Amino acid sequence: MEQGQWRQARRLVREARHAIALTGAGISAESGVPTFRDAGGLWKSYRPEELATPEALARDPRTVLEWYAWRRSALADCRPNEGHRALARFFLGRGESGLVTQNVDGLHTRAALEEAGKGPAEAALPLELHGAVGRDRCQSCAARWPAEPLGETLPQCSACGGLRRPDVVLFGEALDADLLDRARGLAEQADLCLVVGTSAVVYPAAALPLATREAGGHIVEVNVRRTALTEAATLALRGEAGTILPALLDRQSGSPR
Ligand code: APR
Repeated sequence: MEQGQWRQARRLVREARHAIALTGAGISAESGVPTFRDAGGLWKSYRPEELATPEALARDPRTVLEWYAWRRSALADCRPNEGHRALARFFLGRGESGLVTQNVDGLHTRAALEEAGKGPAEAALPLELHGAVGRDRCQSCAARWPAEPLGETLPQCSACGGLRRPDVVLFGEALDADLLDRARGLAEQADLCLVVGTSAVVYPAAALPLATREAGGHIVEVNVRRTALTEAATLALRGEAGTILPALLDRQSGSPR
């Protein structure tokens, strides 16, 4: 990466009054979590219509719940990487929430709790636009619990008897309206939107960086390749999130190795 681009990126970070970050599956790739659309990504093995839709859940709940149980088990050994940690330190340091993720792997939350140590982790906790695979939600009354291992019978809500399902947004389901409103408000107030590890093809998440730009802010993209958003970015930093983010965000760091 040429030095002028790097200096400009560090200046945008330093001077940002309100910064937000939108992350996608790419930030968790270095933690061993498969992305969705890269070669070998999750969707390469399954068609979304087979598994991640309300129709599939109604038609064949056990298969859908077993797929998510598999995804949870695949995540059990994954840990936050240096990209998650750098973002957690950045928002903890600013003391202002701004982390929005499309990921359901819970790694940003773990990074926030691990980096916060004794201080309040709130500023680094993400808005999880697509939910979290580590939580269950009642299909009927929306009660929520930490996810439990799948038993012989389909899990039922203890409050109303509805189906307990992963607390994730399936294709075709609406996102949580309050969460989306909060994310849109943050994007419109921000003068810097970091876009990390997303192909930026899924809406409404992909519209958030454009809201920052329309309000006069800058988009800085961190990705290993071009995306649908690259054209709209003030700067596109090519490389892995785990290498670029610590160098970009940590106060006393230099340029990436
Ligand atoms: N560092 C930075 N970027 C990376 C890295 C890395 N180490 N590895 C991969 N990437 C980039 C890829 O180049 C790609 O642009 O991460 C992006 C991953 O894109 P997708 O697989 O499409 O994942 P995402 O953008 O998060 O998908 C959005 O689609 O399937 C739905 O709900 C699902 O939340 C998901 C949404």
